[in-house]
Amino acid sequence: MVLINTIDISPPLLNSSCAWSSDLKQLTELYESEYTGAITTRTATLKGFEEDEKHTVAFTTSGTTTINSYGYSPHPLSQYLTWVEEILTTHASFNKAIIISITASTAGEIAQMVDAIQELRTKLLDNQRPSGKTRIGVELNTSCPNISYASPSGYSFKSLWPLVIVLGDAFAQDPTLTLGMKLPPYTHMDQYMEVMAGLRSLAVTPPGREKTNPFAFLTCTNTLGNSLLFSEQTVPKETGDKNEGKDAEKEKDDTKAKAKTSQFAVPPVLGGLAGDGLHPLALGNVYRFRQMLSEESKETGLSDIKIIGVGGVTSKEAAERMRKAGADVIACATLFGKEGVRAFEILGKD
Ligand SMILES: Cc1cc2nc3c(=O)[nH]c(=O)nc-3n(C[C@H](O)[C@H](O)[C@H](O)COP(=O)(O)O)c2cc1C
Repeated sequence: MVLINTIDISPPLLNSSCAWSSDLKQLTELYESEYTGAITTRTATLKGFEEDEKHTVAFTTSGTTTINSYGYSPHPLSQYLTWVEEILTTHASFNKAIIISITASTAGEIAQMVDAIQELRTKLLDNQRPSGKTRIGVELNTSCPNISYASPSGYSFKSLWPLVIVLGDAFAQDPTLTLGMKLPPYTHMDQYMEVMAGLRSLAVTPPGREKTNPFAFLTCTNTLGNSLLFSEQTVPKETGDKNEGKDAEKEKDDTKAKAKTSQFAVPPVLGGLAGDGLHPLALGNVYRFRQMLSEESKETGLSDIKIIGVGGVTSKEAAERMRKAGADVIACATLFGKEGVRAFEILGKD
């Protein structure tokens, strides 16, 4: 069991936000798996993201690597809140948490989103559970590399500032709110230092508690943007993944789109790399953050931040490497896309 603020993740294994945690059926299946200790929704925006045939994923023919060109979920946050309510009320005896992945480009939007999430938590008495553990958390996605009009905000902590302030205020008002941040893969020291300095300045002292950081966890890492795979390196769409979250029409669109741009694995040519190909960089990011967080003094509230290690966890051995690098909890997307919920059995079964 790993306690992240008020969320108990047991076993310490979950899905990372992805296209296969997009709808009620997929989320329910994930939630009911005995091998997931929590689940994460696909990233939602306030109004929903316009998705078309350019947004897709391809799996490599050898190994377990993906390239994807998805943006955010086409379903708005309000839809996820309806589904989260349904799952939590129909599984009242479960202690498992649902981490709602959100993103926005303005502070006003984030404020509306966090208010709506807090409204649902109040309605479900999420902060009054006898165990003191809660079943709804929030992950701020700062790191999607596939948005044509915006670079991942996690590469410039300053640009994130207006959003994290809003979330920090929400935590100060209600310290039972468990917040995390999904970060992009970093490659040099200045990037880590900027995140650490930003986080350090957010520390608050809620009534009756020691100095703490509003962000209880970091999820490292998202996909590596600007990656390129050729079609000949990837398998045809229909055979790549075992998840059946998409309707037949969308499936046909994906295939047509791929045929049109058959030289490249995804229609925009460049996309986000994940799976085995990302693993060493993800391990490095987890290791670096673990070192930096553990060197912080208690007063900054940073030393308690937990790390969800993501990136190329495609086998038990890879999960073990993530733990050795410093992850408290392990998550995956590509293996889940390839195997369906059986992925968590592969990673979690003794
Ligand atoms: C098809 C696909 C869709 C994804 N969508 C999201 C998303 O909506 N939000 C997010 O934070 N990360 C998203 N990711 C990134 C994953 O959560 C994860 O960080 C990344 O894929 C690395 O993990 P992996 O190697 O296990 O795939 C997506 C990844 C894939 C492959």
